Amino acid sequence: MSKTIGILTAGGDSPGLNAAIRGVGKAALGHYGMHIVGFRDGFRGLMENRTAPLDGGQLSGILTVGGTILGTSRDKPHKMPVGGKLVNMLDSIAGNYHVNHLDCLVCLGGGGTVKNALRLKQMGLNVITLPKTIDNDVAGTDTTFGFDTALGIATEAIDRLHSTAHSHHRIIVVEIMGHRAGWLALGAGIAGGADVILTPEIPYEVDSVAEAIRARVRGGKPFSIVAVAEGAMSKQDLATIAAARSAGRKSSKLRDGRKADDQEADAAELLYADRTLRLAKHLEALTGLEARVTILGHVQRGGAPSAADRILATRLGTACADLIANGRYGVMVAAKGDGTRPVRLEEVAGKVKTVPINHSWIGSARRVGTNFGD
Ligand code: F6P
Repeated sequence: MSKTIGILTAGGDSPGLNAAIRGVGKAALGHYGMHIVGFRDGFRGLMENRTAPLDGGQLSGILTVGGTILGTSRDKPHKMPVGGKLVNMLDSIAGNYHVNHLDCLVCLGGGGTVKNALRLKQMGLNVITLPKTIDNDVAGTDTTFGFDTALGIATEAIDRLHSTAHSHHRIIVVEIMGHRAGWLALGAGIAGGADVILTPEIPYEVDSVAEAIRARVRGGKPFSIVAVAEGAMSKQDLATIAAARSAGRKSSKLRDGRKADDQEADAAELLYADRTLRLAKHLEALTGLEARVTILGHVQRGGAPSAADRILATRLGTACADLIANGRYGVMVAAKGDGTRPVRLEEVAGKVKTVPINHSWIGSARRVGTNFGD
Protein backbone atom coordinates (compact mmCIF):
# COMPACT_ATOMS: atom_id res chain seq x y z
CA MET A 1 0.00 0.00 0.00
CA SER A 2 1.37 3.43 -0.86
CA LYS A 3 2.45 5.68 1.97
CA THR A 4 0.86 8.99 2.99
CA ILE A 5 3.10 11.82 4.08
CA GLY A 6 2.27 15.16 5.68
CA ILE A 7 4.37 18.30 5.27
CA LEU A 8 4.49 21.49 7.30
CA THR A 9 6.79 24.50 7.48
CA ALA A 10 7.56 25.91 10.93
CA GLY A 11 9.49 28.83 12.43
CA GLY A 12 10.57 31.92 10.50
CA ASP A 13 10.20 31.60 6.74
CA SER A 14 13.25 31.14 4.59
CA PRO A 15 13.96 31.24 0.86
CA GLY A 16 13.94 27.69 -0.51
CA LEU A 17 10.99 26.37 1.52
CA ASN A 18 8.81 26.02 -1.57
CA ALA A 19 11.66 24.40 -3.48
CA ALA A 20 11.95 21.86 -0.64
CA ILE A 21 8.17 21.22 -0.54
CA ARG A 22 8.34 20.66 -4.29
CA GLY A 23 11.38 18.36 -3.93
CA VAL A 24 9.73 16.17 -1.29
CA GLY A 25 6.36 16.28 -3.02
CA LYS A 26 7.38 15.57 -6.60
CA ALA A 27 9.69 12.73 -5.60
CA ALA A 28 7.09 11.25 -3.24
CA LEU A 29 4.21 11.53 -5.70
CA GLY A 30 5.88 11.04 -9.05
CA HIS A 31 8.75 8.73 -8.20
CA TYR A 32 7.28 6.67 -5.35
CA GLY A 33 3.53 7.00 -5.92
CA MET A 34 2.86 8.17 -2.35
CA HIS A 35 0.03 10.43 -1.16
CA ILE A 36 0.90 13.84 0.24
CA VAL A 37 -0.95 16.40 2.30
CA GLY A 38 0.17 19.83 3.53
CA PHE A 39 -0.67 21.43 6.88
CA ARG A 40 -1.06 25.18 7.10
CA ASP A 41 0.85 27.50 9.42
CA GLY A 42 3.23 25.03 11.01
CA PHE A 43 2.28 22.87 13.99
CA ARG A 44 -0.79 25.05 14.59
CA GLY A 45 -2.35 23.89 11.32
CA LEU A 46 -1.70 20.25 12.23
CA MET A 47 -3.23 20.81 15.65
CA GLU A 48 -6.32 22.40 14.03
CA ASN A 49 -6.30 19.88 11.16
CA ARG A 50 -6.14 22.63 8.53
CA THR A 51 -4.89 20.81 5.49
CA ALA A 52 -3.75 21.99 2.07
CA PRO A 53 -3.89 19.74 -0.98
CA LEU A 54 -0.47 19.08 -2.49
CA ASP A 55 -1.36 16.30 -4.85
CA GLY A 56 -0.15 17.66 -8.13
CA GLY A 57 -0.84 21.11 -9.50
CA GLN A 58 0.14 22.92 -6.30
CA LEU A 59 3.72 21.72 -6.62
CA SER A 60 4.22 23.36 -10.00
CA GLY A 61 5.54 26.89 -10.41
CA ILE A 62 6.77 27.19 -6.81
CA LEU A 63 10.49 26.37 -7.20
CA THR A 64 11.44 30.03 -7.60
CA VAL A 65 8.90 31.54 -5.20
CA GLY A 66 9.95 32.98 -1.81
CA GLY A 67 8.16 32.34 1.50
CA THR A 68 6.11 29.17 1.95
CA ILE A 69 2.89 28.25 0.16
CA LEU A 70 1.82 26.44 3.35
CA GLY A 71 2.26 29.43 5.67
CA THR A 72 4.24 29.14 8.88
CA SER A 73 4.13 29.99 12.58
CA ARG A 74 6.41 29.79 15.58
CA ASP A 75 3.81 27.86 17.62
CA LYS A 76 5.22 24.93 19.57
CA PRO A 77 3.18 21.71 19.97
CA HIS A 78 3.75 21.55 23.74
CA LYS A 79 3.16 25.27 24.39
CA MET A 80 0.52 26.40 21.90
CA PRO A 81 -1.25 29.72 22.56
CA VAL A 82 -4.90 28.72 22.97
CA GLY A 83 -7.49 31.01 24.56
CA GLY A 84 -4.83 33.33 25.96
CA LYS A 85 -2.86 30.47 27.57
CA LEU A 86 0.00 28.23 26.53
CA VAL A 87 -1.44 24.72 26.28
CA ASN A 88 0.19 21.34 25.62
CA MET A 89 -1.42 20.23 22.34
CA LEU A 90 0.77 17.21 21.66
CA ASP A 91 -2.18 14.80 21.96
CA SER A 92 -4.30 16.77 19.48
CA ILE A 93 -1.39 16.84 17.07
CA ALA A 94 -0.83 13.11 17.39
CA GLY A 95 -4.59 12.62 16.93
CA ASN A 96 -4.63 14.52 13.65
CA TYR A 97 -1.53 12.66 12.46
CA HIS A 98 -3.58 9.47 12.78
CA VAL A 99 -6.82 11.00 11.45
CA ASN A 100 -4.91 11.78 8.25
CA HIS A 101 -3.44 8.24 8.17
CA LEU A 102 0.09 9.63 7.95
CA ASP A 103 3.03 7.28 7.64
CA CYS A 104 5.42 10.20 8.18
CA LEU A 105 5.30 13.91 8.97
CA VAL A 106 7.96 16.05 7.27
CA CYS A 107 8.77 19.24 9.20
CA LEU A 108 10.72 21.94 7.39
CA GLY A 109 12.34 24.17 9.97
CA GLY A 110 15.34 25.24 12.00
CA GLY A 111 16.66 24.23 15.43
CA GLY A 112 13.35 24.86 17.22
CA THR A 113 11.52 22.66 14.75
CA VAL A 114 13.97 19.81 15.39
CA LYS A 115 13.15 20.02 19.12
CA ASN A 116 9.42 19.99 18.37
CA ALA A 117 9.76 17.10 15.92
CA LEU A 118 11.69 15.14 18.54
CA ARG A 119 8.75 15.57 20.95
CA LEU A 120 6.50 13.98 18.31
CA LYS A 121 9.02 11.21 17.72
CA GLN A 122 9.02 10.47 21.44
CA MET A 123 5.23 10.02 21.19
CA GLY A 124 5.78 7.31 18.60
CA LEU A 125 5.14 9.34 15.43
CA ASN A 126 7.31 9.00 12.34
CA VAL A 127 8.93 12.38 11.62
CA ILE A 128 11.69 13.74 9.41
CA THR A 129 13.01 17.31 9.40
CA LEU A 130 14.76 19.34 6.73
CA PRO A 131 17.13 22.11 7.91
CA LYS A 132 16.06 25.56 6.78
CA THR A 133 17.09 28.93 8.17
CA ILE A 134 18.90 32.01 6.95
CA ASP A 135 20.93 31.81 10.19
CA ASN A 136 22.84 28.62 9.16
CA ASP A 137 22.88 27.64 12.82
CA VAL A 138 21.46 24.09 12.72
CA ALA A 139 23.84 21.49 14.13
CA GLY A 140 24.69 18.33 12.21
CA THR A 141 24.40 19.73 8.69
CA ASP A 142 27.00 21.46 6.53
CA THR A 143 24.50 24.22 5.77
CA THR A 144 20.82 25.14 5.70
CA PHE A 145 18.69 26.36 2.83
CA GLY A 146 17.93 30.07 2.98
CA PHE A 147 21.41 30.98 4.12
CA ASP A 148 22.90 31.43 0.66
CA THR A 149 20.06 33.69 -0.46
CA ALA A 150 20.26 35.87 2.65
CA LEU A 151 24.03 36.00 2.27
CA GLY A 152 23.60 37.38 -1.25
CA ILE A 153 21.06 39.98 -0.14
CA ALA A 154 23.18 41.17 2.81
CA THR A 155 26.29 41.28 0.62
CA GLU A 156 24.56 43.37 -2.01
CA ALA A 157 23.37 45.72 0.73
CA ILE A 158 26.94 46.18 1.98
CA ASP A 159 28.13 46.82 -1.57
CA ARG A 160 25.56 49.58 -1.90
CA LEU A 161 26.32 51.04 1.51
CA HIS A 162 29.99 51.29 0.58
CA SER A 163 29.51 53.94 -2.07
CA THR A 164 27.36 56.16 0.10
CA ALA A 165 29.64 55.74 3.14
CA HIS A 166 32.60 56.65 0.94
CA SER A 167 30.89 59.71 -0.57
CA HIS A 168 29.86 61.16 2.81
CA HIS A 169 32.96 60.13 4.79
CA ARG A 170 30.71 58.29 7.21
CA ILE A 171 30.62 55.17 9.31
CA ILE A 172 27.73 52.94 8.31
CA VAL A 173 26.77 50.34 10.86
CA VAL A 174 24.75 47.63 9.13
CA GLU A 175 22.83 45.20 11.31
CA ILE A 176 22.52 41.70 9.90
CA MET A 177 20.22 38.88 11.10
CA GLY A 178 21.46 35.52 12.35
CA HIS A 179 19.87 35.15 15.80
CA ARG A 180 22.67 34.02 18.16
CA ALA A 181 25.08 32.98 15.39
CA GLY A 182 27.37 35.14 13.32
CA TRP A 183 27.41 33.19 10.04
CA LEU A 184 25.42 35.72 8.06
CA ALA A 185 27.24 38.82 9.31
CA LEU A 186 30.59 37.11 8.92
CA GLY A 187 29.88 35.81 5.42
CA ALA A 188 28.35 39.04 4.14
CA GLY A 189 31.00 41.09 5.92
CA ILE A 190 33.77 39.18 4.18
CA ALA A 191 32.02 39.12 0.79
CA GLY A 192 31.15 42.81 1.02
CA GLY A 193 34.54 43.86 2.36
CA ALA A 194 33.27 45.26 5.66
CA ASP A 195 36.03 46.95 7.67
CA VAL A 196 34.68 45.68 10.98
CA ILE A 197 32.66 42.50 11.60
CA LEU A 198 31.01 41.95 14.97
CA THR A 199 29.54 38.55 15.80
CA PRO A 200 28.01 36.93 18.90
CA GLU A 201 30.93 34.51 19.05
CA ILE A 202 33.50 37.28 19.63
CA PRO A 203 32.46 39.79 22.31
CA TYR A 204 33.76 43.18 21.25
CA GLU A 205 35.21 46.34 22.80
CA VAL A 206 33.88 49.56 21.30
CA ASP A 207 37.31 51.13 21.78
CA SER A 208 38.93 48.50 19.59
CA VAL A 209 36.38 49.16 16.83
CA ALA A 210 36.87 52.93 17.14
CA GLU A 211 40.64 52.56 16.95
CA ALA A 212 40.35 50.47 13.76
CA ILE A 213 38.19 53.20 12.22
CA ARG A 214 40.59 55.96 13.33
CA ALA A 215 43.49 54.00 11.82
CA ARG A 216 41.63 53.93 8.51
CA VAL A 217 41.14 57.71 8.72
CA ARG A 218 44.88 58.14 9.35
CA GLY A 219 45.50 55.95 6.31
CA GLY A 220 43.39 58.27 4.13
CA LYS A 221 40.11 56.35 4.32
CA PRO A 222 37.65 58.51 6.28
CA PHE A 223 34.75 56.04 5.98
CA SER A 224 34.06 52.57 7.35
CA ILE A 225 31.51 49.80 7.10
CA VAL A 226 30.72 47.98 10.36
CA ALA A 227 28.79 44.73 9.80
CA VAL A 228 27.19 43.80 13.11
CA ALA A 229 25.28 40.58 13.74
CA GLU A 230 22.00 41.16 15.56
CA GLY A 231 23.21 38.87 18.35
CA ALA A 232 26.64 40.47 18.79
CA MET A 233 27.36 41.85 22.25
CA SER A 234 30.04 44.10 23.62
CA LYS A 235 31.98 42.88 26.63
CA GLN A 236 30.26 45.64 28.60
CA ASP A 237 26.76 44.45 27.56
CA LEU A 238 27.66 40.92 28.57
CA ALA A 239 28.84 42.17 31.97
CA THR A 240 25.50 43.98 32.44
CA ILE A 241 23.57 40.80 31.66
CA ALA A 242 25.79 38.75 33.98
CA ALA A 243 25.14 41.28 36.77
CA ALA A 244 21.37 41.05 36.20
CA ARG A 245 21.65 37.27 36.34
CA SER A 246 23.54 37.22 39.58
CA ALA A 247 21.21 39.83 41.16
CA GLY A 248 18.28 37.60 40.19
CA ARG A 249 19.89 34.46 41.60
CA LYS A 250 20.72 36.19 44.89
CA SER A 251 17.13 37.22 45.58
CA SER A 252 15.68 34.03 47.06
CA LYS A 253 12.04 34.93 46.54
CA LEU A 254 10.44 35.69 43.21
CA ARG A 255 10.04 39.41 42.70
CA ASP A 256 6.59 40.30 41.26
CA GLY A 257 6.21 36.57 40.65
CA ARG A 258 9.03 36.68 38.13
CA LYS A 259 12.10 34.44 38.02
CA ALA A 260 15.80 35.27 37.83
CA ASP A 261 15.84 34.04 34.25
CA ASP A 262 13.14 36.57 33.39
CA GLN A 263 15.25 39.39 34.81
CA GLU A 264 18.19 38.23 32.76
CA ALA A 265 16.00 38.08 29.67
CA ASP A 266 14.74 41.61 30.39
CA ALA A 267 18.29 42.91 30.64
CA ALA A 268 19.23 41.23 27.38
CA GLU A 269 16.07 42.47 25.67
CA LEU A 270 16.83 46.03 26.73
CA LEU A 271 20.32 45.77 25.36
CA TYR A 272 19.19 44.19 22.10
CA ALA A 273 16.51 46.80 21.50
CA ASP A 274 18.69 49.74 20.59
CA ARG A 275 22.14 48.17 20.72
CA THR A 276 23.07 48.94 17.12
CA LEU A 277 21.97 52.57 17.48
CA ARG A 278 23.98 52.89 20.70
CA LEU A 279 27.02 51.41 18.99
CA ALA A 280 26.77 53.94 16.15
CA LYS A 281 26.44 56.86 18.58
CA HIS A 282 29.36 55.59 20.57
CA LEU A 283 31.53 55.28 17.45
CA GLU A 284 30.57 58.81 16.39
CA ALA A 285 31.73 60.13 19.74
CA LEU A 286 34.98 58.17 19.69
CA THR A 287 35.99 58.86 16.06
CA GLY A 288 34.50 62.25 15.24
CA LEU A 289 32.98 60.76 12.07
CA GLU A 290 29.27 60.88 11.36
CA ALA A 291 27.58 57.48 11.68
CA ARG A 292 24.40 56.04 10.20
CA VAL A 293 22.61 52.77 10.93
CA THR A 294 20.99 50.40 8.42
CA ILE A 295 18.98 47.49 9.81
CA LEU A 296 18.47 45.00 6.99
CA GLY A 297 15.78 43.07 8.86
CA HIS A 298 13.31 40.85 7.02
CA VAL A 299 14.50 41.98 3.59
CA GLN A 300 17.10 39.25 4.15
CA ARG A 301 14.41 36.56 4.34
CA GLY A 302 12.12 37.68 1.55
CA GLY A 303 11.97 36.97 -2.14
CA ALA A 304 13.21 34.32 -4.51
CA PRO A 305 15.78 31.74 -3.39
CA SER A 306 19.25 31.76 -4.95
CA ALA A 307 20.24 29.00 -7.38
CA ALA A 308 22.34 27.36 -4.63
CA ASP A 309 19.36 27.28 -2.24
CA ARG A 310 17.07 25.86 -4.92
CA ILE A 311 19.57 23.07 -5.54
CA LEU A 312 20.13 22.38 -1.83
CA ALA A 313 16.40 22.33 -1.06
CA THR A 314 15.78 19.98 -3.99
CA ARG A 315 18.60 17.66 -2.87
CA LEU A 316 17.32 17.53 0.72
CA GLY A 317 13.68 17.21 -0.33
CA THR A 318 14.25 14.32 -2.70
CA ALA A 319 16.56 12.58 -0.20
CA CYS A 320 13.72 12.89 2.32
CA ALA A 321 11.36 11.06 -0.03
CA ASP A 322 14.00 8.31 -0.45
CA LEU A 323 14.24 7.90 3.34
CA ILE A 324 10.46 7.64 3.68
CA ALA A 325 10.35 5.05 0.91
CA ASN A 326 12.95 3.05 2.88
CA GLY A 327 11.10 3.47 6.18
CA ARG A 328 13.88 5.50 7.79
CA TYR A 329 12.32 7.98 10.22
CA GLY A 330 13.22 10.10 13.28
CA VAL A 331 16.02 11.93 11.49
CA MET A 332 17.00 15.27 10.02
CA VAL A 333 18.16 15.15 6.40
CA ALA A 334 21.53 16.88 6.61
CA ALA A 335 23.66 18.27 3.80
CA LYS A 336 27.01 16.49 3.78
CA GLY A 337 29.50 17.46 1.09
CA ASP A 338 27.89 16.83 -2.28
CA GLY A 339 25.46 14.38 -0.73
CA THR A 340 23.05 14.12 2.17
CA ARG A 341 22.91 11.99 5.30
CA PRO A 342 20.26 11.20 7.90
CA VAL A 343 21.15 12.42 11.41
CA ARG A 344 19.11 11.24 14.41
CA LEU A 345 17.01 14.06 15.84
CA GLU A 346 18.44 13.34 19.30
CA GLU A 347 21.88 14.32 17.99
CA VAL A 348 20.68 17.70 16.73
CA ALA A 349 18.01 18.85 19.20
CA GLY A 350 19.06 21.61 21.60
CA LYS A 351 22.35 22.30 19.82
CA VAL A 352 23.16 25.55 18.05
CA LYS A 353 25.91 25.70 15.44
CA THR A 354 27.71 28.95 16.09
CA VAL A 355 30.87 30.05 14.28
CA PRO A 356 33.94 28.38 15.85
CA ILE A 357 36.33 31.20 16.74
CA ASN A 358 39.12 29.38 14.92
CA HIS A 359 37.00 29.06 11.78
CA SER A 360 38.88 29.63 8.54
CA TRP A 361 36.53 32.45 7.48
CA ILE A 362 37.55 34.43 10.57
CA GLY A 363 41.23 33.72 9.96
CA SER A 364 41.00 34.87 6.34
CA ALA A 365 39.08 38.00 7.30
CA ARG A 366 41.70 38.90 9.89
CA ARG A 367 44.45 38.44 7.32
CA VAL A 368 42.85 40.98 4.99
CA GLY A 369 42.75 43.44 7.88
CA THR A 370 39.18 43.08 9.13
CA ASN A 371 38.66 44.16 12.72
CA PHE A 372 36.53 41.95 15.01
CA GLY A 373 36.45 44.34 17.93
CA ASP A 374 38.55 42.04 20.11
O1 F6P B 1 15.71 32.58 12.44
C1 F6P B 1 15.56 33.45 11.39
C2 F6P B 1 15.42 34.85 11.88
O2 F6P B 1 15.25 35.67 10.75
C3 F6P B 1 16.56 35.35 12.75
O3 F6P B 1 17.68 35.73 12.01
C4 F6P B 1 15.88 36.46 13.48
O4 F6P B 1 16.49 36.68 14.74
C5 F6P B 1 14.48 35.96 13.66
O5 F6P B 1 14.28 34.98 12.68
C6 F6P B 1 13.41 37.01 13.51
O6 F6P B 1 12.20 36.41 13.81
P1 F6P B 1 10.79 37.06 13.51
O7 F6P B 1 10.56 37.07 12.04
O8 F6P B 1 9.84 36.17 14.21
O9 F6P B 1 10.83 38.46 14.04
